Amino acid sequence: MFELLKEQPADKILMLMQAFKEDPRDQKIDLGVGVYKDAQGRTPVMRAIKAAEKKLWEIEDTKTYTGLAGDIGYADAMVDLLLGDAVPRDAVAAAATPGGTGAVRQGFDLVRMANREARVFVSDPTWPNHLSILKHMEMHMVPYRYFNAETRGVDFDGMMEDIADARIGDVVLLHGCCHNPTGANLTTEQWQQVIDLLKKTGAVPMIDIAYQGFGDGLDEDAEGTRMVAAQLPEVLIAASCSKNFGVYRERTGLLLAVAHDEARRKVNQGMLNYLNRQNYSFPPDHGARLVTMVLQDPELRADWEAEVKEIREGVLALRQQLAAELKRLTNSDRFDFLAEHRGMFSRLGATPEQVEKMRVDSGIYMVGDSRMNMAGLNKDTVPVLAKAIVDAGV
Ligand code: LMR
Repeated sequence: MFELLKEQPADKILMLMQAFKEDPRDQKIDLGVGVYKDAQGRTPVMRAIKAAEKKLWEIEDTKTYTGLAGDIGYADAMVDLLLGDAVPRDAVAAAATPGGTGAVRQGFDLVRMANREARVFVSDPTWPNHLSILKHMEMHMVPYRYFNAETRGVDFDGMMEDIADARIGDVVLLHGCCHNPTGANLTTEQWQQVIDLLKKTGAVPMIDIAYQGFGDGLDEDAEGTRMVAAQLPEVLIAASCSKNFGVYRERTGLLLAVAHDEARRKVNQGMLNYLNRQNYSFPPDHGARLVTMVLQDPELRADWEAEVKEIREGVLALRQQLAAELKRLTNSDRFDFLAEHRGMFSRLGATPEQVEKMRVDSGIYMVGDSRMNMAGLNKDTVPVLAKAIVDAGV
């Protein structure tokens, strides 16, 4: 039976991670997988998480099952972090999931159960795993224009024109902040125009928010998501704690279904519980518990917020340094977009050949579409990258 199976295409981001590991050069630079790294190239356990972990070791007296949707305290704390007071808590059904990817997968599953014919509109480009999961689930997907290759900003007119085709029964997948892979994001006014358009079409928005706090601030990064949740009757939100709490391997995410209708919310909560039960039963708890402890304890929370700010400002400083260095080398402002982008990623706009040249000549690893993880840089490697970009003829 297994001889009928075919080899699956390897995930490009994970392949790059492996290739970087195997490169023997000392001076190599990893701008691949979306993992935060400090100036020494480490991905440390965040201070507040470490403190919560110690405390948890002392106070945890059972590891029996929680609930199918995970611990309710986690859902409450995360709904508050994501949505603030944009919607009443009882408008939100929520379930813990294994990471943000788990939330995305469960969200697509919910959509498919609601409408087998649903088309999912995805930004072009988007996180490659969105496409891979949709393909695996045999769901219809429709790309919408998003990135202007000239300006390296959002092609907003193209986006609006394309999502105007979405209908009732369709879903429009949006990135809450820090667009992956481009780093180009919607302004507040543009979010409002997208909301007005979705109101007209009747399509349901699904927001993937995996980098809250890494762009402009915890509240600022959730602004678009909050506007959507407050103004549209139904919204799905897939959230990840992997990056902003640094709990990557603990697999800590949350799927939210917002419905401004009490009866609907009850059915949605039942559906989220049901989907968890079918796919893996109880969701993982360890990371979720740590996140809850951090969010509920004022001291731990303040320290966590301070560390998220340090990360955000550190990445922004690297962006500014790189843009300035490229301005100096090229005597032009064509790389200024790097300082405008937000989050860990920027799409540089290099060709696959130029990306390959930077890897071969300078040991610089970025995704083939020229997505760079800015957190993979430090003050000393920024000039190395800038020179390689110029040498590659970007
Ligand atoms: C990324 O985009 O690099 C991250 O979200 C990690 C992943 O799983 O792909």
